[in-house]
Amino acid sequence: MSALLMCPPTYFGIEYEINPWMSRLRGADPGLATAQWTHLRETLGQQCGIQIETVEPQAGLPDLVFTANAGLVVGRRAILSRFRVPARSGEEPVFRDWFAGHGFEVVELPPDVFFEGEGDALFCGEQLYCGYHFRSEIRSHDLIAEMLGRRILSLQLVDPRFYHLDTCFCPLGPDRAMYFPGAFDEYGRRVLASNIGDLIEVSEHDALRFGCNAVLIHDDIVLPAGCNQLTADLCGRGYRVHPVNLSEYLKSGGAAKCLVLRLDARTTASMQMCDRE
Ligand code: ARG
Repeated sequence: MSALLMCPPTYFGIEYEINPWMSRLRGADPGLATAQWTHLRETLGQQCGIQIETVEPQAGLPDLVFTANAGLVVGRRAILSRFRVPARSGEEPVFRDWFAGHGFEVVELPPDVFFEGEGDALFCGEQLYCGYHFRSEIRSHDLIAEMLGRRILSLQLVDPRFYHLDTCFCPLGPDRAMYFPGAFDEYGRRVLASNIGDLIEVSEHDALRFGCNAVLIHDDIVLPAGCNQLTADLCGRGYRVHPVNLSEYLKSGGAAKCLVLRLDARTTASMQMCDRE
């Protein structure tokens, strides 16, 4: 079984505005944020049986909780993020140290090529889809394809509310995914439709509640509360759906998926060895 990386929300807050969801006038409630994060962690760990690793929170890095943006892990390799926004670039050394300290080979892009990790890079089966425009740059896609020796399908994001790919697209299996069509251009929608057989449309109502920002573990899906139609659709397809209230993270433009990073199953055993040393 694979593991997930999370970061406790000790220093989480809305301290700057780098996406349309964030307003310093609408701060996060620290107690509620902690309770919601703990609920998410317990749902993933206890109800879905996934191993959770954690990175130490750091003062002055309020978005470090969004570990999906640490990088992209493939096997033992971690392609480190290069944040577009200077406010988040201080997270890079923290994640670099964590990966290096846990047996990953850290791979870095050139300093001027922006790439925000799994937030903009998701596998659907063996096919890697990467988003670009608001945060990651399309230039990063060729470099990553070369590093991994695999084809990437690039998707342009066109709605600033859905600025990372994981806010509007969620793979559910080798030939199944859910997505919010309005976040993509005509070409992107065609790429998805011609490559994924079972494409579940998420309504704007549920997409705005971050329904696509879900975590799939076998037949369990953990997603933000309030996505009623989507929850019913997924239950109808046989998934066990676990809604979690993540209101404080929505104020930052993030939800369930943004708060975790997938660590590849093949790396988990060696990681445990590192922890014992
Ligand atoms: N406030 C954070 C930002 O704007 C939220 C990041 C959400 N992460 C994600 N993978 N979508 O960068």
